[in-house]
Amino acid sequence: MKRRSFLVLGSVGASTLLTGCLPMLIMNRDKISDMFSGGNPSTSTLNSKNFNEKLAIPLLLEGKNINGVYHYDLTIQEAQHRFFKDKLTHTYAVNGTYLAPTLKLINGEKVSINYTNNLKELTTMHGHGMHVPAEMDGTAHQSIAPTQTWSAQYRVNQRACTNWYHPHAMGTTAEQVYQGLAGLIIIEDKESQALDLPKEYGVDDIPLVLQDRFFDSDGQLYYHPTMRQTMMGYKGDTFIVNGVIDPYVEVPAKEVRLRLLNGSNSSVYELAFSDSRAFKQIAGDNSFLEQPVSLHTLRLSPGERAEIVVDLGSDFGKTFYLNETRQGKAFLKVNVTKKATSKTVLPTVLTKLEKYSTSKVVRHRRFILSGMMGRVMINNKRMDMNRIDEVLKLNETEIWEISNRGMMMMRMEHNFHIHSTHFMVLERNGSYANVLENEKGYKDTVYLAAGDTVKIIVKMTDYTNKKVPYMYHCHFLEHEDAGMMGQFTVE
Ligand code: C2O
Ligand code: CU
Ligand code: CU
Repeated sequence: MKRRSFLVLGSVGASTLLTGCLPMLIMNRDKISDMFSGGNPSTSTLNSKNFNEKLAIPLLLEGKNINGVYHYDLTIQEAQHRFFKDKLTHTYAVNGTYLAPTLKLINGEKVSINYTNNLKELTTMHGHGMHVPAEMDGTAHQSIAPTQTWSAQYRVNQRACTNWYHPHAMGTTAEQVYQGLAGLIIIEDKESQALDLPKEYGVDDIPLVLQDRFFDSDGQLYYHPTMRQTMMGYKGDTFIVNGVIDPYVEVPAKEVRLRLLNGSNSSVYELAFSDSRAFKQIAGDNSFLEQPVSLHTLRLSPGERAEIVVDLGSDFGKTFYLNETRQGKAFLKVNVTKKATSKTVLPTVLTKLEKYSTSKVVRHRRFILSGMMGRVMINNKRMDMNRIDEVLKLNETEIWEISNRGMMMMRMEHNFHIHSTHFMVLERNGSYANVLENEKGYKDTVYLAAGDTVKIIVKMTDYTNKKVPYMYHCHFLEHEDAGMMGQFTVE
């Protein structure tokens, strides 16, 4: 056992059972030994912290108002972070030592988010879920050379939600995120401000950036995916929340809101509480859900967000865990040790979402996700910065059908993320009945199990640029870096 205790017995996923039998048709010796060496250091001696370290809360930046524009000054840098008591770990971070500050943006306000790259390598900073012009999107087309500053300047133009930012450079996204570059963007609007929801950041409105990592015996981040790990996901054996291994959090005995980000490179998380308590999901990637959705387990694939509300009103003195049931381990210990000083009552209606009408659909597009032998592709193509794969017309409604095909016996999972827009899921495997209640809000990333097909309805509503493209891609970062990505412009 890699870790001291299993808090829940996870169901062993089919993927785990099948990983031993990758067909070896035309692989060279290197790749074969690579596959079987396992390649991952054991961190058992380091991982014995037993949830006695306090959860860190990323600093909240509200922006400096200069002539009506809110400025956020961010420095991307090398740092050293204390994951372990007696060792410092080399990391990348924004401002601090791991991850990045949480940016709070208000819908309608103008912002200038200024990123200075103090790394020795090129990077970029993409606002995932942000509805912004292509030239402000922070992809590889807006790269930031060492010592340079790049500013994302726009008027915030979307509903309240929890977004995030991370690098998006060609071929180095996975490793730079792994080193620690990721932060949350909380967007508020009139509606979110008026709803009776927990809103005290870090107190009853708690951001949780969930990740997993491998560390070597020296406590350093270990990133060396084998070909099998590139294909099946680089899933670290050590869980981290907000840059802390095995943390606990002290919360008040009231409704508590958790803003969850799957910030892993390529692990799908299935989250549940150790006492199997029910909770309500109130928001997905890009909006509130119309009504809270009651759940016992929540699946989040890489890049997806969920806001949940857990009612701890009668739990004073209790302790339980936030578990991840696929790996059968806990992310976080929750101690209900604080008396509530305020009260919220979760509304039964949260919002009304405008739905694009299927009768207005003018175009269908199909995207086939495939992968074998270390090659992952969309429509049989790998990403090319100099190729525009799709051209969309402003305000035209489209249906995109996305299928996860190929290597069925490997049970390869993927997801599909589109920049700058939100979409709604119309069908999963041929019917609306298969669309989960908690994926009925605005989404920017949708999960596809092996063999799945989803239909989504998409419309680009604001920004055009014939030259600068946006991206769509699988958000399993090893897949993205291996080329499972395409580009589109909006005209
Ligand atoms: Cu989270 Cu293309 O990105
Ligand atoms: Cu994105
Ligand atoms: Cu993928």
